[in-house]
Amino acid sequence: MANDKKSVIDQKVDSLLSLMTLEEKIGQMNQYNGFMDFTGPVPNEEDIERKFEHIKKGYVGSILNVRGVEEIRAVQKIAVEQSRLGIPLIFGFDVIHGYQTMSPIPLAEAASWDLKAIKESARLAAKEAAAAGINWTFAPMVDISRDARWGRVMEGAGEDPYLGSKIATARVKGFQGDDLSDKESIIACAKHFAAYGFPESGREYNNADLGTSTLYNVVLPPFQAANSAGVRTFMNSFNQLNGIPATANSFLLRDILKEKWSFDGFVVSDWGSVAELIPHGYARDASIASKLAVNAGTDMDMESYFYLNELVKLVNDDQVNTSTINDAVRRILKVKFELGLFDNPYKYCDKNLEKKIIGSTEIASGALDMALKSVVLLKNENQTLPLKKKGQKVLLVGALASDKDSPLGNWRAAAIENSAVSILEGMQQYDENLIYSKGPELILGKTEFAKEVQINTQDRFGMKEAIQAAKDVDVVVMVLGEHGLQSGEGRSRSRLDLPGLQQELLEKVFKVNRNIVLVLNNGRPLAIPWAKKNIPAIVEAWQLGSQSGNAVAQVLYGDYNPSGKLPMTFPISIGQVPIYYNHKSTGRPNLPSADFVFWSHYQDESNEPLWAFGHGLSYSKFEYTDLKVVNNYSTNGIVKVELTLTNNSNRKGKEVVQLYLKDKFSKVVRPVKELKGFQLIELAPNTSIQVKFELADRELGFYDNEGKWFIEQGDFEVYVGGSSSTDLSRSFKLLN
Ligand code: NOJ
Repeated sequence: MANDKKSVIDQKVDSLLSLMTLEEKIGQMNQYNGFMDFTGPVPNEEDIERKFEHIKKGYVGSILNVRGVEEIRAVQKIAVEQSRLGIPLIFGFDVIHGYQTMSPIPLAEAASWDLKAIKESARLAAKEAAAAGINWTFAPMVDISRDARWGRVMEGAGEDPYLGSKIATARVKGFQGDDLSDKESIIACAKHFAAYGFPESGREYNNADLGTSTLYNVVLPPFQAANSAGVRTFMNSFNQLNGIPATANSFLLRDILKEKWSFDGFVVSDWGSVAELIPHGYARDASIASKLAVNAGTDMDMESYFYLNELVKLVNDDQVNTSTINDAVRRILKVKFELGLFDNPYKYCDKNLEKKIIGSTEIASGALDMALKSVVLLKNENQTLPLKKKGQKVLLVGALASDKDSPLGNWRAAAIENSAVSILEGMQQYDENLIYSKGPELILGKTEFAKEVQINTQDRFGMKEAIQAAKDVDVVVMVLGEHGLQSGEGRSRSRLDLPGLQQELLEKVFKVNRNIVLVLNNGRPLAIPWAKKNIPAIVEAWQLGSQSGNAVAQVLYGDYNPSGKLPMTFPISIGQVPIYYNHKSTGRPNLPSADFVFWSHYQDESNEPLWAFGHGLSYSKFEYTDLKVVNNYSTNGIVKVELTLTNNSNRKGKEVVQLYLKDKFSKVVRPVKELKGFQLIELAPNTSIQVKFELADRELGFYDNEGKWFIEQGDFEVYVGGSSSTDLSRSFKLLN
């Protein structure tokens, strides 16, 4: 934002602040859940009445989970017309992967490695949400995670801080646009600050004990990238980091975020996380919890009611400084001015626009584009794929194949139930003779956002029919995996297999027909070694959103050539988790001689992943040659890397060319490989292109254990290829 506009806003904020009572200031720091959808424990009727009264008194700064122009206008009207100062509310909502039209889950979008598409997807989500009156999304979640057991890996960009940072930037820019006063822009929220993605044993809400090397080099970079991209809000997290809950962690919120990174937006707590300081064993009561959280830098309290109840007394008793309150309120008001809400509190309340935009073909075709780009072809032997459009008898199997709800994914509070295009529907457009045999159900009963999903482990109804039908077809497409509500918040798993009866179904069908295409629907990496070994073609189709079936069908029948790459390592077995490509070496990394025991390994499992980070095939065939390092760092601080990429096939296709670095010896040991560049390149059949990378200080350096950026001279290895398991490499020396 231009500096003069900024200072005008600062002046307006100051003059408004000077009119406010302490109670009204604290009111701005209070965020209530609304009255319709619930993403946390449900408040009772009495609460609702009190909330309305509080809006009238100016005791509410923001509401979440109210949506739709009519509702939002009505609530905004109370704030603007009935409260003393008429300060407008900000309306927050979890627009995580779309609003009503669902785009692929964020982990799937990350698999596209297509930053332009990801930005556009966030832009369209913002447009649709803004048309419904929303002006603040609680996204992007930029938590790096290495633990597929954790259900929220579906909501992030995977395990890598470099890819994660690029995606964080793209998504913030997509949601917020170039100008926040634009009607289609909503404010973004980088969450969950910090280390929420490292819960011990992958169990939701569990704590993180984390060393500084990982904190500075892995956890923090995507947050820093979001800040550099101008994100206006941060959300803190439920976990403790090294014994200090993130909500009251002044090292994170003040020292790093607000001071070192000069973040000038505001920090919202996670749902009730100020109140959770008590069960954490960090605060004795509500008063202490409020004091610790606000002093640490949590500006807004989401649905704990603690700030509203406690802060006035704490200020009057000199336990919290007025300047701390003023700073928090300034930040919140500033964002409201930036959004243009003081000029027009009903800026997002246009009924005609709501009708025109929500569910429009523009948004739907954006969702399809993103879904296509998110598909990862994991295996394709004997040219099993693409399917032939004619002359092949195809059987489709699996409860997920006809499911119109599961592909909507987890965060879909505003989506219409059962509104996704199913894979069955998608494939029927190609093959009117397609045979469908459901097989056993995956889930029992109806799913609900806040309820456990019941998995069918007993009822084999449909199994026999599916096996019978498979005997007599050319190819069987089996859609297996997780229901959309098996991943997400509160959805950790201790197993990474195909849930319920699906593995049994797969093996039984395989016995009668080996020509199987396995289409996976899942919100996290799965450990499916049997499938990898036996099934000739495997397609990772995640939860792809509203257009799921259309996207999958286009890929299966070859109208779209897949180019996705895994943003997270797939393990062979759960015992390997956390398994991630950018680990550090040990002193004993290699087997010295056959059968020798004393090296870093398992006696019953390999150290290798099932599928490596960055893996993904195409119907084209790409080759990498002529890798060269032009090491002129000493002249201009840049190392140049060049290579040739060739499409050795008769199909046009796209490839994500990945560059990894290893800093071989370092004062803080560096990972065996780190992603430091990638390019998505489209190549015509049987053509080559020279690909160039430039590595500057940002790529070559690292944070030491004090959080200082450091570039070391010495030996490096650069790797280039189509996945993190590439061994095409060159050495170079970095000399100043
Ligand atoms: C709790 C989740 O952790 C957070 O990500 C979400 O934005 C809030 N609930 C609001 O729904």
